[in-house]
Amino acid sequence: MCGIVGYIGNSQAKDVVIKGLKRLEYRGYDSAGIALINGSLSIKKCKGKVSALEKLLSDSEKGSIAIGHTRWATHGEPNDVNSHPHVSSSGKIAVVHNGIIENYNALKLKLQEEGYKFYSETDTEIVAKLIESFIDKNPSIEFVKAVKLALAQINGTYGLAILNSDNPETIFVARKGSPLLIGVGEGEMLIASDASAVAEYTDKVVYLDDGELAIIKKDEYQVINADDVELTKEVHELAMSLEEIEKSGFPFFMLKEIFEQPKTISDSLRGRINVEDGSITLGGITSVMDKLVNAKRIIIAACGTSWHSALVGEYLIEWLAKTPVEVEYASEFRYKDPLIGEGDVLFVISQSGETADTLAALREAKEKGATVLGIVNVVGSTIARETDAGVYLHAGPEIGVASTKAFTGQVTVLALIALSLAQHKGAIDKKSSKKIISALSKIPSQVEEILKQSDQIKEISNLFTYAPNFLYLGRSYSFPVALEGALKLKEISYIHAEGYPAAEMKHGPIALIDDMMPVVVIASTKHTNDKMVSNVEEVKARKGRIIAITSPSNEEVRDLAEFSCMIPETEDVLSPLLSVIPLQLLSYYVAVNRGCDVDQPRNLAKSVTVE
Ligand code: G6P
Repeated sequence: MCGIVGYIGNSQAKDVVIKGLKRLEYRGYDSAGIALINGSLSIKKCKGKVSALEKLLSDSEKGSIAIGHTRWATHGEPNDVNSHPHVSSSGKIAVVHNGIIENYNALKLKLQEEGYKFYSETDTEIVAKLIESFIDKNPSIEFVKAVKLALAQINGTYGLAILNSDNPETIFVARKGSPLLIGVGEGEMLIASDASAVAEYTDKVVYLDDGELAIIKKDEYQVINADDVELTKEVHELAMSLEEIEKSGFPFFMLKEIFEQPKTISDSLRGRINVEDGSITLGGITSVMDKLVNAKRIIIAACGTSWHSALVGEYLIEWLAKTPVEVEYASEFRYKDPLIGEGDVLFVISQSGETADTLAALREAKEKGATVLGIVNVVGSTIARETDAGVYLHAGPEIGVASTKAFTGQVTVLALIALSLAQHKGAIDKKSSKKIISALSKIPSQVEEILKQSDQIKEISNLFTYAPNFLYLGRSYSFPVALEGALKLKEISYIHAEGYPAAEMKHGPIALIDDMMPVVVIASTKHTNDKMVSNVEEVKARKGRIIAITSPSNEEVRDLAEFSCMIPETEDVLSPLLSVIPLQLLSYYVAVNRGCDVDQPRNLAKSVTVE
């Protein structure tokens, strides 16, 4: 979703900002813009890619201070006028904004009555004009005071960066519900909505919290809270290498991230399992283990791919630790007035740690007294900071919009949590526990083996590139994998795809099956093998084109299928970590064949920061 970058220092600000905006392209956007101060304020913005914006900039646009934006349209269609920055009537104030200003209509009407003219359909334009209205009423007012007065009237969410040509050495930023950080350099400062935009310049970052306003100059910054108290903020060290946020020879980030999984799963396991004695160490949740052990039920809330890993988590925790689990769409959780309170535990799962609905679910549960735990990838993200405790994935930055390595990281962490809880509850014996830990330790090399079959999966994808529909079927642990496989295909190739529990197919989707319908069957769990064979027979009887993901113990399914991909044998509970890999590759190759922009699929955003 929308991205913000800003720079003040001795380098050419526009170059740093454009580069930063390119780093944020993965978040999903439809237009881009930049504001620079060089004597006066200069604005360039347009619909389309950052490269189109770059072409609008001439050599004369020099200066040491600039803010930039990538917009993902919420209010008003994507076009040049609605792109950010938005400016005040005097042309002296420029604003870029992430989030949604809910009372913008009322504020706009009031400002229009006062004579201010509006040109865009956005909610953001009111911010520039509202600040200006306070200056017009009191020309001697300090600029920051006018900003504060404006913020006090705004309802909704924002990450804001503001330039004022009367204060040409300062960037003003404010945060409420939309992430912002300051990159602290030597003789230069950056601001961004996402650390990947600053990682090239500094490894020191200050995360702003809700209600905070920062005044940033090239050598210093000041952060004040809503009560006007100056704060001493912790400076965090950013553990993000440039290599992690570059394609490193791969044509797309998604492919790079699929191939990174042997390493990212190893990183999720590192220091947390001991194959010799079967123990698990999860330092992040040690302090809340008693609460987990005593919980009568666990609720998991998440969105998108993270919701699918939550479904795998439900099977894992119920099967291993024998604690009942409920999985909720984070976006629905709040609106059912959830029956949750003290004694309950809510896990939220989020790659980005910034998804607005997941954050809202967390806050709702926290307010009602529940213990709130996070399974998050991005270190220092809002969800990571607001949860009582949690476990990081350590998967490194995920740039491709379609989530891949985060899914396997989440399932790995959920397996560890389920096992650790089972051990603490005495729900699992030592031998079984050791067996699963040993199987977990083999997963990275088994993923490596599956990746070696990528050419074969590419050939299968060539045959189905133009199929209008796909059906994905799975049972038990493979059902969430079926959902995830279908989601991957939809997201990046725009082919309609549905994931179904294999037997449920008979209650509807079976009507769609004919000799044109590819049916991807995930048959990699031993305990549902026989039943899967029957379901595959049903598909075959209707001439469906069967692509099977099977393991050696499911030979019958392989024999029935037209195409198959063999994954190594593992414990049933861990099978999603392997069976999802061919599905990621299948969707990737289909999308590439169709000429789709795999990393930046239309209309989608990597991090959905609006509800
Ligand atoms: C967006 C992304 C998905 C992601 C979902 C949840 O829809 O495109 O890939 O699974 O948000 O994001 P989160 O960061 O909370 O896991």
